[in-house]
Amino acid sequence: MRSTYFRPAAAGLRGALRVPADKSISHRAALFGAMSSRPVRVRNYLDAADTNSTLAAVEALGARVERHGPGELTIHGVGLHGPREAGGAIDVGNAGTLMRLLPGWLAGQPGRAWELDGDESIRLRPVDRIAEPLRRMGARIDARFERLPPFTVHGADLTGIEYELPVASAQVKSCVLLAGLSAAGVTTVVEPAASRDHTERMLARAGAPVERDGVRVTVRPVDGLELGDVDVPGDLSSAAFHVAAALLVPGSRIVLEDVNVNWTRIGFLRIAERMGARIGGELEPAGAFTPGEPVTALEIEHSALHGTTVDAQEVPLAIDELPLVALLACFAEGETVVRGAEELRLKESDRQAAVVEGLRNLGADVQGRWDGFVVRGTGGLRGGWLDPRGDHRIAMLGAVAGLASREGVQVRSMEAAAVSYPGFMDDLATLLAR
Ligand code: S3P
Repeated sequence: MRSTYFRPAAAGLRGALRVPADKSISHRAALFGAMSSRPVRVRNYLDAADTNSTLAAVEALGARVERHGPGELTIHGVGLHGPREAGGAIDVGNAGTLMRLLPGWLAGQPGRAWELDGDESIRLRPVDRIAEPLRRMGARIDARFERLPPFTVHGADLTGIEYELPVASAQVKSCVLLAGLSAAGVTTVVEPAASRDHTERMLARAGAPVERDGVRVTVRPVDGLELGDVDVPGDLSSAAFHVAAALLVPGSRIVLEDVNVNWTRIGFLRIAERMGARIGGELEPAGAFTPGEPVTALEIEHSALHGTTVDAQEVPLAIDELPLVALLACFAEGETVVRGAEELRLKESDRQAAVVEGLRNLGADVQGRWDGFVVRGTGGLRGGWLDPRGDHRIAMLGAVAGLASREGVQVRSMEAAAVSYPGFMDDLATLLAR
């Protein structure tokens, strides 16, 4: 495996960039397209390993994916009740979102069964969180050790339930809502804290009767979905690496165009602003619920930062960016505390450990807590080696840490970035070259 060295940036990041399409919305566009009765045209679909797994999965179920050019697709779906048995395990690759959303659709198909499996990392990620509500609705789910992939979804006639999520997870919420489309009666999900709401927005656009009342989301059964064209906006979770780099490297000033700023996704920007970050661009106000997805051009300047506290309610709104909060905290004045974030242990890697051990190896003053971490800012980071544990977001964090560090960071294997951001190195080089 080849390692990549990221040397301290000689000058600030500059210029404008369009980041890749949103991964969460791309997964949903492919799944909803496959569930629709009419063809669905998707523009700017994310071309990355995770979302390509979703296209392959819907093809295995009988949908046809017509590829017009980069990111331009038409999905000819099979309709809500039309997925065929796959003739072998559906390979979800590294994609937790695919693994947790797809069973919601399949569970409502009586008399048919599907096995789902994936890579080494996915085989360590729990599916009991979706098996439990789907069983309550009437489906049978057989999983390895009751909780891990590979697992089999046996479709059934489902009945709607009211389900209180034990953890704030958009994946679990989405799974239950998709099952609710084919269930008798009403299905309600109650979240302990708001999580990303792309599923609800897309359901509303596809004509499904979905309602939100605070942290309660309700859906009723439908005969079919009619999703119109989908334009996938840029991914805030991918933009976040450039945001962090620009905040940390002196002399930086960048613009990131067409970034999705759905309020359930911008926790990282809110946290960074609280730490002193100068961020321009119109962000969606908290609590908004529109069928569409808001976008803006984000303007980021190098900023002096100070510590902050992130609590459980804010965690789902920044879940994939919390490692970057830890990185910012190394450069901030004072202490940063992240709590209520035990979910970090169940991501593509154990991200709590990746942050604590990874940043400590680079010279950070960071303490692990069972539900998060505490970072004492030391005005910078020495640098050194980082093992991303095969996790795309930790690999990209390593790159940013290297640019902002005193000695640079050697990242063992950047290949993982291809899961969500295959062009990451080129985009970073573009911002550094200007
Ligand atoms: C996602 C939800 C989050 C997030 C993941 C994508 C989604 O997971 O970490 O990267 O698209 O619904 P959880 O819902 O499990 O927190």
